[in-house]
Amino acid sequence: MSESELPGAPDLAYRDGALSLEQVPVARIAEQVGTPFYAYSSAHLERRYREFTVAFGGKAMLCFAVKALSNVAVLRHLGRLGAGADLVSEGELRRALAAGIPPSRIIFSGIGKTETELRAALAADLHQINVESAPELSLLSDLAQRMGKTARVAIRINPDVAADTHAKISTGKAGSKFGIDLVHAADSFRRAKQLPGIEPVGAAVHIGSQITSLAPLEAAFGRVVDVYKAMRGEGIKLTRLDLGGGLGIRYRHETPPSINAYAAMVTRLTRGLDASLSFEQGRWICGNAGILVSRVLYIKDGATRRFVIVDAAMNDLVRPAMYEAWHEIVPAIAPAAKAKRAPADVVGPVCETGDIFATERELPPVAAGDLVALLSAGAYGAIMSSEYNSRLLVPEVIVRGTEFATVRPRPTYEDMLAREKLPPWL
Ligand code: LLP
Repeated sequence: MSESELPGAPDLAYRDGALSLEQVPVARIAEQVGTPFYAYSSAHLERRYREFTVAFGGKAMLCFAVKALSNVAVLRHLGRLGAGADLVSEGELRRALAAGIPPSRIIFSGIGKTETELRAALAADLHQINVESAPELSLLSDLAQRMGKTARVAIRINPDVAADTHAKISTGKAGSKFGIDLVHAADSFRRAKQLPGIEPVGAAVHIGSQITSLAPLEAAFGRVVDVYKAMRGEGIKLTRLDLGGGLGIRYRHETPPSINAYAAMVTRLTRGLDASLSFEQGRWICGNAGILVSRVLYIKDGATRRFVIVDAAMNDLVRPAMYEAWHEIVPAIAPAAKAKRAPADVVGPVCETGDIFATERELPPVAAGDLVALLSAGAYGAIMSSEYNSRLLVPEVIVRGTEFATVRPRPTYEDMLAREKLPPWL
């Protein structure tokens, strides 16, 4: 793979032979932080945020899907650029507020918000609450009345469109648990209009993640626009369309639509609609801003396979094990142009057969002690990590130009054990 082809370029590149995030060689971070660690490029996050907002002529609100990367420093960086936040839990609400993102730019989504979470959303006076079921709407109405508030509500519609992505991240087909079925959408809006404490303001849709063609998005948006128009025709004063996230990125050979093509499609569908637009992109903003850096522990030449055993594992990055996801793996030192590639399985230390980052991957020569980076790991990487096998939570670092800072330090084993308590009888 040539330099310019690295997902994450130009903010991730070999500079003087050293894999660098912006101007910082990953080896320098490894010296200070140890391995494994996640590192994110501030410049890349900013580049993507600006590309998105420019494509919409500054007229759309981008509410970053906090679930994709919820580190508070990252949220603060995006928030300062002007981003809002899309949340699915009180924990994410706390993070967004801690990052300084104003409630007027926050959308609360999710099919299973608890009463406490709805109360927190009302208390914070969020921009919008996306409602996904009839009983949620009733509960929200009750709570809003009791708290003397009015909830600005968007109904999330399930448009019954297949997203053509991995089955585990497809959400827009009838029969999926997400959203209110298209056939029930109009009734939900009518009910929302009647209910005290509820102000129906818009329609929302999100059909899945890592979508790499416009067609399913266009089909879904078209259906939602139809409902929007019909409801306005009935005198329900909707003013907002929340078109969700889901735009795909390049991990390997994917060719996702350009942001300008996406914006042109949306603009065409929403022309003359009198709707302000919001989006909930996560992966598109942060996926290629981040990498997971790991050290090679051993090379094991098995009878039939060669294994590169690294110190990161499925608990640090679960996507390959969970979704058969492909992440590029590159050495921290640029391989010689003529270096011979050979297939190897790149595996972690966790005691599970599924703890495999790559199978029969053609890799340039790597030896024990070398650093390697798993690319495109900014979205759904650190946030899906766990302590499985009692491995310490992987730290996170943010890079800006020539400097870097650890924004989630690696805990100590004492920290890990201190969270637990013995019962009185032991
Ligand atoms: N809005 C809603 C309502 C969502 O459910 C999601 C993602 C997003 C926005 C952001 O989607 P994005 O723009 O990032 O595609 N863990 C999986 C992805 C799960 C996506 C869940 N929902 C993965 O690693 O591929």
